[in-house]
Amino acid sequence: MTGWTTEREAEVTTEQSQLVDGIDLSDLEFWALPWTEREAAFKTLREKRPIAFFEEPEVDDLPFPRGPGYYAITRYQDVVEMSRHPELFCSGKSATSIFDMPQEFLEFFGSMINMDDPRHARLRRIVSASFNPRMVGSVELSIQEVADSIIEKVRNVGACDFVTQVSSRLPLQVICDMMGIPESDYDTVFHASNVILSMGDPEYVPEGADPVATLLNAGAELAGLMEGLAAFRVENPTDDLTSALLHANVDGESLTHQELASFFILLLVAGNETTRNAISHGLVALTEHPDQRAAWMADVEGVTPTAVDEIVRWATPVIFMRRTVTEATTVSGHDFKEGDKCILFYNSANRDEDVFENPETFDVTRSPNPHIGFGAPGPHFCLGTHLAKREITVMYRELFKHLPDIRATAEPDRLKSSFINGIKHLPCTFSPGG
Ligand code: HEM
Repeated sequence: MTGWTTEREAEVTTEQSQLVDGIDLSDLEFWALPWTEREAAFKTLREKRPIAFFEEPEVDDLPFPRGPGYYAITRYQDVVEMSRHPELFCSGKSATSIFDMPQEFLEFFGSMINMDDPRHARLRRIVSASFNPRMVGSVELSIQEVADSIIEKVRNVGACDFVTQVSSRLPLQVICDMMGIPESDYDTVFHASNVILSMGDPEYVPEGADPVATLLNAGAELAGLMEGLAAFRVENPTDDLTSALLHANVDGESLTHQELASFFILLLVAGNETTRNAISHGLVALTEHPDQRAAWMADVEGVTPTAVDEIVRWATPVIFMRRTVTEATTVSGHDFKEGDKCILFYNSANRDEDVFENPETFDVTRSPNPHIGFGAPGPHFCLGTHLAKREITVMYRELFKHLPDIRATAEPDRLKSSFINGIKHLPCTFSPGG
């Protein structure tokens, strides 16, 4: 009996470790696997190798050397621990990419998300008042107007691409409105922010094009647009966010024009792609789980707060952020050395069975729901949390009101990316004229 058990355990162990060895998070094809397969691989990592080392992805024509590899951090408690200790796990070497990029590049594209204290704290102090719950509450009406106008444009048609015609339009217009960007520039902004966040996906970076040049051009386009607006607002201030940030005076400090341009790029990419994907994943989840949809629609006001958090947990629109080890330290028995790269996989943490009961279940009434879709507690916790939740809330409230039977009708066309859990297109139908 004992021999049988041992053999059996040995077999299982070998089989499972083979499975673990077969997982390659650096292979772009891994990110095209069906969601369930991807989640199964992360479950295996959490169980068998929660701090797993990977070589860095091979990317053609990268203008800097391939780095030394990274550790994939897949358990909730480790992601939280590292986020809490920015003095040991910093963001300054790049929080948004596995590669080390030149410093100017990081600041241009990442603004404060790629900075550490004291520079991070200074920027965050200047901008945070504009994103607190009171301020977000004051733009609720305009969020609702934007949501209604988006729905109005499709409601008589009976079918549309939910991403390009509905979900992506709301966050884009809300940020552009807040910043004071004119409507005539929305399409430019939409295209450039797609390019910046979707590196590698041929729909946005055509094959044969130089990805770095494409990225830089998109950034330059947005920066140019913002610098033009900033110059105008210095002379002609209004009540928009651009004017507020230019004239903000926190301990005698405000943003320079260049800081403003970088912050604008960060807001666009951080605020658009994430919120739109949360809204799109929401429709997929509600289509696949009609019981959850019924429960939500039966008590829209009561269920919305938990449903919105569950959508963000379920979707985890931002798959990872990176931290870099600043000095030798140990986490969960693993010794890290200075310079080690740690990739915090929020998607995995948000399905960690040690924290979430039945993590594979989509439950609009889940409570408690300590998901870390907006990052874990720490200095970089998402600045736009209140705004994003408000947008998701308003969008679903209005959809339930005007297009109550809206549903996805085909598999989502997914973005091939290890960073953003994106949906590029999602056909949907609804009874027209609602
Ligand atoms: C569902 C929607 C969203 C998700 C899932 C999301 C997720 C995140 C995550 C994971 C981080 C990084 C946390 C870290 O490094 O520890 C972050 C940071 C950030 N987010 Fe969001 N975000 C969302 C919406 C927004 C919106 C609407 C805005 C603004 C318009 C925004 C602005 C930012 C900014 C500025 C940062 C950097 C904060 C800092 O470095 O101090 N986000 N977000």
